[in-house]
Amino acid sequence: MFKKLLLITFLGVVLNEALTPSTTNQKIHVSLLETLINDGKANVVISFNEETRHILDSVNRIRFDSRGHKITFLKTQLEQLTKDSQRSVISILKSHSTTFQSFWINNRIIVKNASIELIQQIAQIADVSEIREELVIRHQPPIPTRTKQEEGGWGVVKIEADQAWNLVGGNNGYGVVVASMGTGVRYTHEAIRGNYRSSYGWFDPYTRTRNPIDVHGHGTNALGLVTGINGIGVAPGAQWISCRGCDDPGDGSITCTEAAVTSCGEWVLCPTLWNTQQPDCSQAPNIVSGSWNEGGRGNDFYADVVDAWKVANIIPIFPVGDFGTAGCFSVHSPGDYEGVIGVGATAQSDAIVPSSSRGPTLDGRIKPDVAAPALNIRTICKESDTAYCNAAGTGMAVPHVAGTVAMLLARDPELTFDQIKDLLQNNADRELGETESCGGTNSTQDWPNNVYGYGRINARRALTALINDSL
Ligand SMILES: *[C@@H]1O[C@H](CO)[C@@H](O)[C@H](O)[C@H]1NC(C)=O
Ligand SMILES: *[C@@H]1O[C@H](CO)[C@@H](O)[C@H](O)[C@H]1NC(C)=O
Repeated sequence: MFKKLLLITFLGVVLNEALTPSTTNQKIHVSLLETLINDGKANVVISFNEETRHILDSVNRIRFDSRGHKITFLKTQLEQLTKDSQRSVISILKSHSTTFQSFWINNRIIVKNASIELIQQIAQIADVSEIREELVIRHQPPIPTRTKQEEGGWGVVKIEADQAWNLVGGNNGYGVVVASMGTGVRYTHEAIRGNYRSSYGWFDPYTRTRNPIDVHGHGTNALGLVTGINGIGVAPGAQWISCRGCDDPGDGSITCTEAAVTSCGEWVLCPTLWNTQQPDCSQAPNIVSGSWNEGGRGNDFYADVVDAWKVANIIPIFPVGDFGTAGCFSVHSPGDYEGVIGVGATAQSDAIVPSSSRGPTLDGRIKPDVAAPALNIRTICKESDTAYCNAAGTGMAVPHVAGTVAMLLARDPELTFDQIKDLLQNNADRELGETESCGGTNSTQDWPNNVYGYGRINARRALTALINDSL
C-alpha cells in the first residue's frame, strides 16, 4: 500500500514534468507511464539519438567483392556505433542486474521488467532519445481445415508458377534462399525436408532449440507454399531457413515480441548457429517471407531493420493484414512500409478476400503493392510429416509472392528491390472483377488501387518479362 502510494506520487511528478518543455521526462512515452501506474514495471525499448542511417548510406557507397563481406563490414560498423552510444545505459542496466538485450541492427535496447526508477535514471542520459513500451504483436489467423489430398492447391496454378518452371530459361527457384519468419516450421515434413538448408538454417530467440520447431502451425502452413514439393509450393527448387519471431501463448493465437522479431532481423542479416555463436554473414538469405504483421498502422518500429536488409539486397515480403472488414486504411506494419512488398489476399475467383486489409497507408500511399491467392489454399501442416490442410489469410498470400521472387532471383541474382517490385507489378493480372473504392482509387479502373495494388501476381508473366529482357 505504502509502495503504491509512493509510486503514484512519483508518477504524478513525472507526469507533471512531462508537460513542461525540455525535461528528460519528455523522452518517456505517456502510454508507458500508464502501464507503470498499473503494473509497477514494464518491458521497454530504449532508442538513441545516434541513428544507423549514415552507416547504411556509407556502406552502400563502398564496393565489396562479395555480399558476405559487405554485410560483415556493415555489421561491424553498426556494432561499433551501438557500443559507443549505448555505453552509459548498459552500465546502469548492469548495475541493476536487469535482463536486457542490446541490438546493433537498429541501435536499441530492450529491457524486461523495468521499474519507473530505472527508466527515470536512463532518461537522464543525454544520448537516449526515447523510451517506450515494447511492442507485442498479437494476431489470430483463420484456423486451417484438414484435407487428405497431397497434391498442390489452386494458388500455384492461378499464378501460373507451374508454367514458369517449364519456360525456356525458366526455373523453380534453384539456388535462392528464402527465410521464413513466423511461428517456426515442422522441418521434417515430407514436402519441405529436402530443401531445408540445415547449415545456419534455424534460430529460435524464445527457446533456442537446435532444430526447427513450430509451436503453432501457421509458420509451417506458410512455408509449404514457398518451397513445398509436389505442386504445393511456388518455388520447390529454393532452399529455406527460418527464424521463430512468434510464439503461441497457448490459446491458438500468435504473439510476436518486438525483442524476438528484432533478434530475427539481426539473424537474417547475419545468420549465427542456433546458439548465437559463429556468425557468418555470407549465409544471409535472399528473401524474407514474413507471416506476421499487426504492428499497428504506420508504426515504424521495424523500419531500421528493413533498411539494413536493403543494403544486403534481402527482399522483405509481408502481409498487409487481415483487417479488411474494418474498411479502408486498414493496412498494418511492416506490410505498409515503402521498403516492403505488402501483399493482399485473393480468392480462387480473383475476388479480394473481404478480410484482406485495404489501403491507403496512414500517410496516403497506395497499399497493398500486389495481391496473391490466400483462401482455402492447400498446404502442409504441422500435425505430422504427412499432414495437409487448407489455410487462409494474407499470411498465405505472402509465400506465393516470396516463391515468385525466388524464381526471379534464380534467373538474375543481381535484381534489386525496385526491379523485382516492377517485375511483379507490371506483370500482374488485372481482370479481377471486383469494384470497390478506397482512398480515391477504384479497384476495377485504377491501377494501382488500394484493394489489389497493381493486381494479382502472375509468376509466368513476371519471369517471362525478365527472360525476354535479358535476351
Ligand atoms: C518479469 O516479470 C514477470 C511477472 O512478474 C515474470 O514472470 C518474468 O519472469 C520476469 N522476467 C524477467 C526477465 O525477469
Ligand atoms: C468504378 O469504376 C467502374 C467502371 O468505370 C464503375 O462502373 C464503378 O461504379 C466504379 N465504382 C466505384 C465504387 O466508384
